[in-house]
Amino acid sequence: MKTIIALHTGTGNSLYAARKIPDAEIHFISEFLSGRYTLPEDTEKLGIVFPVYCWGLPFPVREFIDKCLGTRDNSSLGYVFGIATCGAFSLYTLHDLAMSLSDAGIALSYGNSVKLPDAYLPLKKKAVTDEEARKQAAEAEGKLSSIADDIEHEKIRIPRRGPGWRVIRKLSETAMKPRRNPALKSNENCIGCSTCASICPMGNITIENSGPVFGENCISCFACYHRCPHNGIDYKGASGQYNGLVDTKELMR
Ligand SMILES: Cc1cc2nc3c(=O)[nH]c(=O)nc-3n(C[C@H](O)[C@H](O)[C@H](O)COP(=O)(O)O)c2cc1C
Repeated sequence: MKTIIALHTGTGNSLYAARKIPDAEIHFISEFLSGRYTLPEDTEKLGIVFPVYCWGLPFPVREFIDKCLGTRDNSSLGYVFGIATCGAFSLYTLHDLAMSLSDAGIALSYGNSVKLPDAYLPLKKKAVTDEEARKQAAEAEGKLSSIADDIEHEKIRIPRRGPGWRVIRKLSETAMKPRRNPALKSNENCIGCSTCASICPMGNITIENSGPVFGENCISCFACYHRCPHNGIDYKGASGQYNGLVDTKELMR
């Protein structure tokens, strides 16, 4: 049975995790939202793989569930799983996923999370080094292979909620709404190569006069900052770039 994975990723960790699932066909959530890809009517096994953002779902995942799943006949879906990648812990994110899917009339069969290198800059202002990233990826291998095994055998794992989950869900939803991020700016290293525009999961960057112009729909995933091949984007004095677990070209849309 073919597995379809709907993937949201900024810096590539979630693509790295999605690739561990055997025989899965992976599609960016942006492909679903733009109408370039439609979930086949007879899909039986569906996965949603994404990063934890402020202990909740990234905006595109909410949009995918509302606009793409909430509007179709989902009766063919027999097994639906969610994998969240996080820098520390996922708290109630998978319960949030279960609730969002339930609003679309879908039961989540399995949810699990895995810790991978943290792409978030606002707290530390220092990117994970290659050495740290390699160590953290190696530590995640066991968890990733047990998740892959669980999913292959269609294990059931219902994510639990805890006190205050509704408040946290609301806070996350509000904090992670797409908006302008005035702190992201190109610097003198920028050569206008347009890598940032190609990898932005929101299509929020255009190249004008050989430099990026950041629009109003930033979700602060920091893919543009970390993946610029010339270190040509500044963010509030942050230093270093997280080079990620997959090639930059694999994130191009
Ligand atoms: C905007 C943003 C918010 C984040 N919030 C959390 C969080 O609440 N908890 C956590 O453990 N990690 C958090 N992280 C870390 C990411 O979940 C982690 O780096 C993830 O693996 C990135 O996935 P990606 O490379 O597929 O985009 C956050 C990262 C970003 C960019």
